[in-house]
Amino acid sequence: MDNRNNTIAGWVLFAGICALGLSIGSGMLNASHNPEKPGFPIEDAEGGEGAGKSAVPLPNLLAAADVEKGKAVFAKCAACHTDTQGGANGIGPNLYAVVGDEIGHGRGGFAFSDALKSHGGTWTFENLDSWLASPRKFANGTKMSFAGLSSPEDRANLIVYLNTMGSNVPLPAAEAAPAGDAAAAPAEGDKAAAPAAAEGAEKGAAAPAPAAPAEAKK
Ligand code: HEC
Repeated sequence: MDNRNNTIAGWVLFAGICALGLSIGSGMLNASHNPEKPGFPIEDAEGGEGAGKSAVPLPNLLAAADVEKGKAVFAKCAACHTDTQGGANGIGPNLYAVVGDEIGHGRGGFAFSDALKSHGGTWTFENLDSWLASPRKFANGTKMSFAGLSSPEDRANLIVYLNTMGSNVPLPAAEAAPAGDAAAAPAEGDKAAAPAAAEGAEKGAAAPAPAAPAEAKK
């Protein structure tokens, strides 16, 4: 009996420690303990190669983005790109409704480089962010001769502006706190620790309530 209780208490404690460590380690990455949204933190771990240059996560930059400022940044693109519906291809392809579209395809038959044509995937917010940070890093051999935008805010403003031009893809939910470097860890640990913690709570054990950070505003 005692043994059994000790074992249960031990697991509960263990789960609590896991959960606590997880929330600290992940910089209180919200939704870590919400089993209803198991995929949420993974989005972060998937961030493109160019992600992570800012202390602020991309979803938060996007949530705070200013469309008018983004429109102003687009002046840097306008020498080569149009962005209106039916706009002509120039040195670069027309960018109407490019957010969410396939990478390096379509665009009224624009002659893409092999680098972009063979890249695969779609223009997610993350992909656009790393592309605009450094086109050459994103697709080595691209013929878009543009050095990149070093300001994460400029990129976010621009991406949100482009999104208004025919795409209107829903923006990702902003995170409660910067995920920092630990972003990759919780995606794995989460699977094990979250259900364990939930189990402990169900048994009415005095598991330390895992710090429940403010829920993501959905
Ligand atoms: C000097 C001309 C030039 C400038 C400036 C330029 N681009 Fe491009 N862009 C291109 C070319 C050329 C391509 C095709 C690249 C390839 O095929 O490798 C391209 C491709 C793209 C694509 C991929 C489209 C698709 O359907 O896959 C996006 C998105 C894009 N540019 C956005 C921008 C944005 C946003 C800016 C401004 C920050 C910008 N570009 C500035 C020339 C330019």
